[in-house]
Amino acid sequence: MVRLPLQCVLWGCLLTAVYPEPPTACKEKQYLINGQCCSLCQPGQKLVSDCTELTDTECLRCSKGEFLDTWNTERHCHQHKYCDPNLGLRVQREGTSETDTTCTCEEGRHCTSDACESCALHSLCSPGFGAKQIATGVSDTICEPCPVGFFSNVSSAFEKCRPWTSCETKGLIELQAGTNKTDAICDSQHRMRALVMIPIVTGILFAVLLVSVYIRKVVKKSEDKVRGSPSREGVHQSHLEGLLNDRSLGPTSRGSGSVGLGWGSRSCISNEFPR
Ligand SMILES: *[C@@H]1O[C@H](CO)[C@@H](O)[C@H](O)[C@H]1NC(C)=O
Ligand SMILES: *[C@@H]1O[C@H](CO)[C@@H](O)[C@H](O)[C@H]1NC(C)=O
Repeated sequence: MVRLPLQCVLWGCLLTAVYPEPPTACKEKQYLINGQCCSLCQPGQKLVSDCTELTDTECLRCSKGEFLDTWNTERHCHQHKYCDPNLGLRVQREGTSETDTTCTCEEGRHCTSDACESCALHSLCSPGFGAKQIATGVSDTICEPCPVGFFSNVSSAFEKCRPWTSCETKGLIELQAGTNKTDAICDSQHRMRALVMIPIVTGILFAVLLVSVYIRKVVKKSEDKVRGSPSREGVHQSHLEGLLNDRSLGPTSRGSGSVGLGWGSRSCISNEFPR
């Protein structure tokens, strides 16, 4: 009669000993093994042996060229990625015991995937398109069609759309409007003509100046001469008389009356006058 309650107490003790806690109760950074919670190995270390009642989990640092980037129970560390130069790859960032090596592509190429396991040549933007974003080691060229007012006449991985030449601001006439593949063409003759015209016009102006100065000098000289001799009217008169005398001296004109009406008749008069 006394045994039963004792048995019950004993079973109770056993039950509580076998199930001290439910199995899901391991804390963060722990793992359950053989009904026991053991610490996980920290990043950069691999598991050597699970913990026991008396000892903690045994972990070991990854060797050179290896890594583990999480809290883990791995028996082996992972190898660092190899950036194969034969695939156009090169190291972007060396790995550590906790991080993997990252690769990128050599100049002129970009990764074909996020993992960057191979490289491809940068795409070219064909004529009519410009490079909106130049390719990097991890991304390809992004091209955009040239908007109105811009052009690209080359296939290039980095040339942007260039603005049309403004003939107007250069003071030239536009011969041909620009397209998305060609620049505007200005009349280069116009400028040439201007360049040729400038010295010619200057020359003409200079010549006109010289001539006018010369004429002025000549007029002045003759005026000076006139001042010394009889009056202007006097000169005219004597000149006229000379002319008349020449006529009167002509042997055929006398009396014939057949020489022109104007001078002839006058000469007759002047001939008769002295008599
Ligand atoms: C360039 O212009 C031509 C003619 O206007 C048009 O047909 C073509 O689509 C344009 N190209 C681009 C890349 O915008
Ligand atoms: C592109 O346009 C520029 C400027 O008009 C010119 O100098 C160059 O020769 C052109 N290139 C080609 C390939 O047509």
